[in-house]
Amino acid sequence: RYEAGDPDSGEIAAIVGHRGNSAVAPENTMPAISSSVLTGAEYFEIDIEYTADDKVVAIHDGTVERTTDGTGSVREMTYDQLSQLDAGSWFAHGHGFTGVGVPTLEDVVAYMADTSAHMLLEYKSHWSPEKVQLTRDIIEEYGVEDQIVAQSFNLDTVSSLHQEMPEVPRMILGAPRDDSEELAAEREAIGWNPSVGQVLDNPGWVDRMHEAGLYTFVYTVNSANQWEQLTDLGVDGIITDYPDHLQGWNARF
Ligand code: G3P
Ligand code: CA
Repeated sequence: RYEAGDPDSGEIAAIVGHRGNSAVAPENTMPAISSSVLTGAEYFEIDIEYTADDKVVAIHDGTVERTTDGTGSVREMTYDQLSQLDAGSWFAHGHGFTGVGVPTLEDVVAYMADTSAHMLLEYKSHWSPEKVQLTRDIIEEYGVEDQIVAQSFNLDTVSSLHQEMPEVPRMILGAPRDDSEELAAEREAIGWNPSVGQVLDNPGWVDRMHEAGLYTFVYTVNSANQWEQLTDLGVDGIITDYPDHLQGWNARF
């Protein structure tokens, strides 16, 4: 299993609940997050954005249409507007989740502070150093630095994370590149996280990362066939919508 400081530390990958346990509860909501933690998965993953008045919230898309009953761009809405939206009714015909809201980052870290849960925190799109400071202040206030790994597809955002929040480890999301190791080293990132298809199409990727002292977590992996292929390759983390199923698959023997 993944252990900090040892990129080749285990035969079984860490389980990461993608947007929480998003197969059983609406993605990026508190029920999905707590459900992922209760499965025993090592991490839950969430996506964050900020509102027009600088409140950091857990939501995947830049707009609210897909996962709430509202319309508009998150970065152009106030938190007061966003907080009135229903982020649960779209899921499973709303059974049990009607009225569930978009959580703030503060809601999430306040929950974490009372648990030993770990979070893979994805910064969506571009975050300037000033915007990263918004998250650092919340993380510091609750003292959960050791329970978080940050990640982003955006290399400038990873640079902002390196600059403003060096105490929280960071990973780069993206397709394998010739210069992945250099880009990670420049930002003192601990890993590079491609999609499952990109890893399966690149024989030697996992060994290459481990030789460079880097972890590789892989998204979004929902079939046992792919869990098996990635486990054989020795990946460090598997990001899945089904953390409970992966937990059971790992325990099958
Ligand atoms: O954790 C990585 C994965 O979540 C990236 O893709 O679109 O689901 O945020 P996306
Ligand atoms: Ca994500």
